[in-house]
Amino acid sequence: MEKDKLWWKNEIFYQIYPRSFQDSNGDGIGDLQGIISRLDYIKDLGITAIWLSPIYKSPMVDMGYDISDYQAIDPIFGTMADFDELMEEAQKRDIKIIMDLVVNHTSDQHPWFKEAISNPESPYRDFYYFKKTKDGKKPNNWRSIFGGSTWEPVPNEPGNFYFNSFSKYQPDLNWENPKLRKVIYKMINWWLEKGVAGFRVDAINFLKKDQDWKSLPADANDGLVSVIHKGQNRPGLEVFLDELKHETFEKYNAVTVGEAYGLTPAETKKMVGKNGSFSMVFDFGYMNIEVEDIDEWFRGQRDWTIPELRKLLFETQMELQGTDGWLATVLENHDQPRVLSKLIKNKSDQTATAAKALATMYFFLPGDPFVYQGQELGMKNTQFDNISKFKDINTMKNYQIMLDNGCSKEQALKMINFESRDNARTPMQWNGSEKAGFTTGNPWIELGNDRVGINVADEQTDPESTLNFYRQMISVRKEHQNILINGNLSEINDVPENIIAYKRELDDHELLVWVNLCDKVSKLPEKVEGKVLLNNYDDYSSREYRELDPYQAIVIYQ
Ligand code: NOJ
Ligand code: CA
Repeated sequence: MEKDKLWWKNEIFYQIYPRSFQDSNGDGIGDLQGIISRLDYIKDLGITAIWLSPIYKSPMVDMGYDISDYQAIDPIFGTMADFDELMEEAQKRDIKIIMDLVVNHTSDQHPWFKEAISNPESPYRDFYYFKKTKDGKKPNNWRSIFGGSTWEPVPNEPGNFYFNSFSKYQPDLNWENPKLRKVIYKMINWWLEKGVAGFRVDAINFLKKDQDWKSLPADANDGLVSVIHKGQNRPGLEVFLDELKHETFEKYNAVTVGEAYGLTPAETKKMVGKNGSFSMVFDFGYMNIEVEDIDEWFRGQRDWTIPELRKLLFETQMELQGTDGWLATVLENHDQPRVLSKLIKNKSDQTATAAKALATMYFFLPGDPFVYQGQELGMKNTQFDNISKFKDINTMKNYQIMLDNGCSKEQALKMINFESRDNARTPMQWNGSEKAGFTTGNPWIELGNDRVGINVADEQTDPESTLNFYRQMISVRKEHQNILINGNLSEINDVPENIIAYKRELDDHELLVWVNLCDKVSKLPEKVEGKVLLNNYDDYSSREYRELDPYQAIVIYQ
């Protein structure tokens, strides 16, 4: 691994959701051999590091974010030998691999939990949160992220409950227990010894719960209140996160990318930089602009505006300006609908041109850009005509709540088609055939149904495709690494309402990004001129611009 402590600032990440990437054995589920067979594609795109969503042994209630063995590969993905082969093949291509680290909770099928729940004397009971009440009622009124109480009764022990922030199949680990923490650190170091370059760390802001375990006023008519008020971003969290860093990542100069929704810009600032707990955290500021409430998106769609998006895009960035903090910039992941469907409101405008405009918008901000599989193709949301086609636990919960609150099935289906995490989990589109080259068998989830021309085979050969635009963006990033990593960021103000523009500056140079996010020609407040590094209208001959065409995006160097 590189000696340079901040080596990870140079990386361009690609997130693989293994289940939906490439199946190699016809069982309809993506796997490690499938990933190996596509490494050349990833290399050719210009990617330097891969984040693998969980491949550990799991009952897959939350598609691998419920781990039953941290040191084994789930058989549906392959074996540890396949994993070693993947590491080796990736290394040959100079691609680093980071794993997903899910240590807020395990699966209820983890041997620790099985032992804890069946034996009151077991030392593993202290690995989790068990609470007895005198009146036999649940310890408090907190609601879990995937619905219902955070407390689940312990079988054969009336009045005893265990705690879960997400679902009853994902009991929370007790980070207050130093023995548990030690075991977790050992496991992490085992992976680091194996050569993984670092981790994307799941749900980092949940590790600390308010130890008063007190109820709060209900926020809905189920009498419950979201766990986020007492179990997310709570005081004392940083003590756990700092120890975690010192005992593991720091010793290996590993990269860490924290996943935390709901951080304010000031909280984000504390998490990163030399004294922070992570190399970077995802900037989710603008990720949930389209819904009223991310954890409970059944509350409905929001009518957002471009000025609002602009504000969110720069808010955390500006807070970090001049500090040594760093972000992971992102448009999509496996928990989000596809960005083209999310941020481009008019269906007829959800074109390759718009996909490129959105890509340009985030790709040149300070931070490591993350590309989620299929984003580089301009993949879009799917429309499932029946609830039975959805697979995601969180989608099911939101659907049920909508029905319970009097929505019709049609209304509820419409909302989940708009917001479900399954939108990002339909199989990767490798070609235009019936199963898109993903599998020869029956895919575990249906393919997207809006995908004509949106696939690797067609886009490889089309110089104007979204895929080739991503290639160009990546090479611009590499060529102008110095200004993009070290350059100052400033938002260009006083622009027309539908334009987002910013400047990166270093020494005597400037890199300008101008993006028109509407279907009309927009006049620019001033002439923009210089060397054209990128233009999604595929004309690089001009040296000056006075207006931008619909969804036009340009990157200019001066
Ligand atoms: C965040 C993960 O990205 C998501 O997929 C998962 O359901 C939750 N954390 C719980 O682990
Ligand atoms: Ca398979």
